[in-house]
Amino acid sequence: MTTNEPSRTQWLGRWGFVMAATGSAVGLGNIWKFPYMTGEYGGGAFVLVYLACILSVGVPVMMSEIAFGRRGRGSPVDAFRRLVTESGRSPLWSVLGWMAMLCGFMILCFYVVVAGWSFSYLWKMLSGSLAGSSVDDMAAIFGANNANPWNLGGWSTLVTVLTMVIVGKGVQGGIERSTSWMMPGMVVMLVIMIIYGMFSGGFADALTFLFAFNASELSSEGMLAAMGHAFFTLSLASGAILTYGSYLPKHASIGRTTLTVAVADTLVALMAGLAIFPAIFANGMQPDSGPGLIFMSLPLAFQAMPFGQLFGILFFIMLAMAALTSSISMVEATVSWLTDNAGISRRGASWSTGIVLWVISTLAMLSFNIGSDWTLLGMHFFDWLDYLTSRLMMPLGGLGMVLLAGFVLNKHVMRDELGLSPRVYALWLFMVRYVSPLGILVIFINALGVASV
Ligand code: PFF
Ligand code: NA
Repeated sequence: MTTNEPSRTQWLGRWGFVMAATGSAVGLGNIWKFPYMTGEYGGGAFVLVYLACILSVGVPVMMSEIAFGRRGRGSPVDAFRRLVTESGRSPLWSVLGWMAMLCGFMILCFYVVVAGWSFSYLWKMLSGSLAGSSVDDMAAIFGANNANPWNLGGWSTLVTVLTMVIVGKGVQGGIERSTSWMMPGMVVMLVIMIIYGMFSGGFADALTFLFAFNASELSSEGMLAAMGHAFFTLSLASGAILTYGSYLPKHASIGRTTLTVAVADTLVALMAGLAIFPAIFANGMQPDSGPGLIFMSLPLAFQAMPFGQLFGILFFIMLAMAALTSSISMVEATVSWLTDNAGISRRGASWSTGIVLWVISTLAMLSFNIGSDWTLLGMHFFDWLDYLTSRLMMPLGGLGMVLLAGFVLNKHVMRDELGLSPRVYALWLFMVRYVSPLGILVIFINALGVASV
């Protein structure tokens, strides 16, 4: 039943997919979220659990998702329906597809707010308005930027519009191109900042903070956060990678592709940590300052370094671009589902998705100003979107996916689709059957025991 479909758009070979998947993976997760979560959960122990989760859960799940997408040829909902039908299993499994699609959309609803911060800081850098600010000024500036809903909402609206315009233009034209220069540019910027950090006086502290493992810092809540972040940073269980996989040509190697994306993503995150924490320690800031961490610390580094304004501008351009190549991947599942099932054009699908996105993301944006006391169990709407997706939906969706890949689908389906050598296939199967599900369950149940939302 997958063969009588009109031919689906395809990437221009494996490289086009690698570019798009790397563009999806590398984003605010690496540069904004990884540093502030590492700061919040105490450093080295969080980093270690995160790295372990990338290897033991992230890589096997990403391979499975690409295979699901390519085999099922469609949005997560359609792909899972086809896959379970092909293997004669219960159609109930397509719930995984609905959850992934919803999850990608929910992430996008708060992601555009953070991307809006990146754009507004690009603007601040361009206008030079941050020059000469002290540590305390930076915190006040971040606060003031949030306090005005017209300002903050203007920036997140800009991101929403840009995202939907790119998506409306289609897979090939819109997405593929930007990553090929954005990624190397980002790496160059981070290298410059790391080199500067080496001479800024905070580098040794940064190294210790990021890489010294201290088991006593390892809370079960922190472990769940680290695992959730492994899913988030690789764009897993949210429809993005699966839908991109549906455009991957048959002959491309899923194993090598996954490794390329996972290594690139991990390197950028670690480099971001090495670029940001020296600035934090050199300025006597607290690593656990929360979501504003990079916006309050990086401008201090730019203001102290030679050609700082220029580098700052380039950095925030890269950050904004990285955010966009990720945000476009989050709606791809929904837009692809709408175009395949509701008979709307791609452009129509992206505009209707965009309107819903704009309404919900505006509510998330209001968490920082007029809605600052709309809380439930102490968390704002913005926090809830993050919490529900990273701590609940992605780990559970990932669990469902590895069980589906490892036990439920007919064995030949994944074996044929992955096209691995027998040894590597055996390793993958062992991971999705035992290591990943047990890892997810242990961390999950452990955190439930002490869960204080
Ligand atoms: N991986 C992206 C990042 O690290 O910024 C975030 C993301 C993209 C999450 C796409 C989920 C997704 F579907
Ligand atoms: Na990432």
